[in-house]
Amino acid sequence: MDALDFDGVLVIGGGLAGLSAALAAAPRRVRVLSPVALGEGCSSAWAQGGIAAALADDDTPDLHAADTLAAGAGLVNPARAALLAAEGPGAVQRLAGLGAPFDRTPDGGFVLSREAAHGRARVARVGGDQAGRAVMAAVIAHVRQAAHIEVLEGVRLRGLLQDTGGAAVGALTERDGVITAFRAAAVILATGGVGGLYAETTTPAALLGEGLAAAALAGAVIADPEFVQFHPTALDVGRDPAPLVTEALRGDGAHLINTAGHRFLLAQHPDAELAPRDIVARAIYAERAAGRGAFLDAREAVGAHFPEAFPTVFAACRAAGLDPRITPIPVAPACHYHMGGVRTDADGATGVPGLFAAGECASSGVHGANRLASNSLLEAAVFGARAGRAAARHSAPLRPWLRTPPLALLSAPDLQRLRKAMSRDAGVVRNAAGLTRLLSLLDHLGDGSGQSGPLIAARLIAQCAFDRRESRGAHFRADHPVAGPEARQTLVRLEAGSLCRRAA
Ligand code: SIN
Repeated sequence: MDALDFDGVLVIGGGLAGLSAALAAAPRRVRVLSPVALGEGCSSAWAQGGIAAALADDDTPDLHAADTLAAGAGLVNPARAALLAAEGPGAVQRLAGLGAPFDRTPDGGFVLSREAAHGRARVARVGGDQAGRAVMAAVIAHVRQAAHIEVLEGVRLRGLLQDTGGAAVGALTERDGVITAFRAAAVILATGGVGGLYAETTTPAALLGEGLAAAALAGAVIADPEFVQFHPTALDVGRDPAPLVTEALRGDGAHLINTAGHRFLLAQHPDAELAPRDIVARAIYAERAAGRGAFLDAREAVGAHFPEAFPTVFAACRAAGLDPRITPIPVAPACHYHMGGVRTDADGATGVPGLFAAGECASSGVHGANRLASNSLLEAAVFGARAGRAAARHSAPLRPWLRTPPLALLSAPDLQRLRKAMSRDAGVVRNAAGLTRLLSLLDHLGDGSGQSGPLIAARLIAQCAFDRRESRGAHFRADHPVAGPEARQTLVRLEAGSLCRRAA
């Protein structure tokens, strides 16, 4: 197979991280490969709450960084959190400059929501719950006009090209069943998360951890793959993916109740519904497991204003035949965000020469064991741009690549079995027996090659969840319910197909 050569930066993924990277790489030429049309099928566009940044008079980047550290349960890199928080206000202003229509106060400031585990109201929003779509629309418009960027849609990652020394020299992709090799001077993975590995997810179901798997096969270090965040309030009406019911509703005073109308979070945490996301998710999980049900009651706090205040959630409820102005909303936890990922430095470099990563598929060190709400779009904008600038500086002659087979695909029935098992055994509450059962299932799915992206990503999560015999942040082990004395990062690498641990 011949390669399509290009002496620029290949960006794989069309979410906020990938497009921020593409814009920031100017004037270097960039080719963006996206599996779907830009703006569709990426988690960034589905984000409701908004972008966290210290924009209020009573707020500072130091306070934002401190909340980020506290949420991350001992595993956030303090320097990276400080960098994220310091660059936050500028990143939001830049997105506003691109045309993102943030909600404004009469004097031109940002309308800011408070979300769980934030000590201040600091989430810049758009039209109540439409931040992701609006921000992406503004960014996409600029990407489409940028002379240095070429966008190819409908192109899915099937692996990385490497030279004999292991450097990344491009990517293997598929469009309409045709495999194509793209060679480039540098590659940025911005492929998003792993929500599609779970039966209940708030993210596009096509996100199957292929970027994570491809990077692992290329020799990159994977950090903390066991840390998967479950959003407490997905709309529980049997839709796949499950529509998100934004946390901003709880920030505006909506309460969680069970079938008997009891506010069960009051007894669990002083901040009740605004407790850290993992605590709220486990409380809802327990209430449902006990048969008492869980509902978000916005009748009093939002009431008649619901359609204008939260149009996306309102539309999802109405499509399910519910009217949240008069009925509590049935909710359940669902996979929402992957804190783990390809370990990077502050500029997205992965340690594999020529390979950068940004956004949800990366582990930049800012989320630790539990991401602070609305820090993900911020991370995508800040670290995406940093990766774009760094990749643009990377210059390497186009080198020959070793022929490797593309990542194997998983059949639809196998994927469904995987998703159910991941939700049951690597979900909100985990234990050794469930994780053992899951690992054994992974051995039996697929074509036996072990080279399928979803199976590699699932194994990274399941094996590291099995090995972490403690509860920390979003990782809760019913058989080890207490955090260990020391917060230790998981760092693993695939060597000859097996998972090998690295010292932190
Ligand atoms: C939400 O709107 O509840 C989601 C915000 C986030 O996950 O950061």
